[in-house]
Amino acid sequence: MKDTRTLTQIALMTTLIIVLGFIPPIPLGFIPVPIVLQNLGIMMAALLLGWKKGTLSILLFLTISIFVPAFTGGNTLLPVLSGPTTGYVIAWLFVPSLYSLLTANKASKNPIWIFLAIFLTGVLWVDVLGSIGLAFRIGMPLKTALLSNLAFVPGDTIKAILACLVASRVKLESRSPKKSLA
Ligand code: BTN
Repeated sequence: MKDTRTLTQIALMTTLIIVLGFIPPIPLGFIPVPIVLQNLGIMMAALLLGWKKGTLSILLFLTISIFVPAFTGGNTLLPVLSGPTTGYVIAWLFVPSLYSLLTANKASKNPIWIFLAIFLTGVLWVDVLGSIGLAFRIGMPLKTALLSNLAFVPGDTIKAILACLVASRVKLESRSPKKSLA
């Protein structure tokens, strides 16, 4: 029963990440990395599922995307891993673990810290690793890559706020006593 629940949670999160990939990317002229919504799903995975199930849901997404064009814009994994966005995608995989490390202690469960933790991991960590990936893949100077990535911060911060709001709502709902159907 518990296994079925866990598998369902992982599968639902993977589905959410894939569905968010259907939303068309917004290209930015000055950097070969678009604005996407799929990273909202990565933040949701960390906030709602914790490190193990969150990481598994992202791994499942990556595995599916080997065969199915599940990335934003209809890309599959191999071209993504050899393209300019590889750093972001590698960073995604570690977001649930890093987030869980930052929120492991009981005192760190307040909403401000939860937001800060998801901002540090789901936004800053991803954008910094993405910049390093850009420097490696297309030879962009790291400083230019980091400065260009500042363009993502406002949108990614809004995604982080939205993810925190949705996650706290979902957690509240799942804790509330079941209503009788009678
Ligand atoms: C891909 O589909 O190839 C991955 C795209 C990665 C886009 C990154 S995620 C962090 C930052 N915020 C965005 O909206 N876009 C970039």
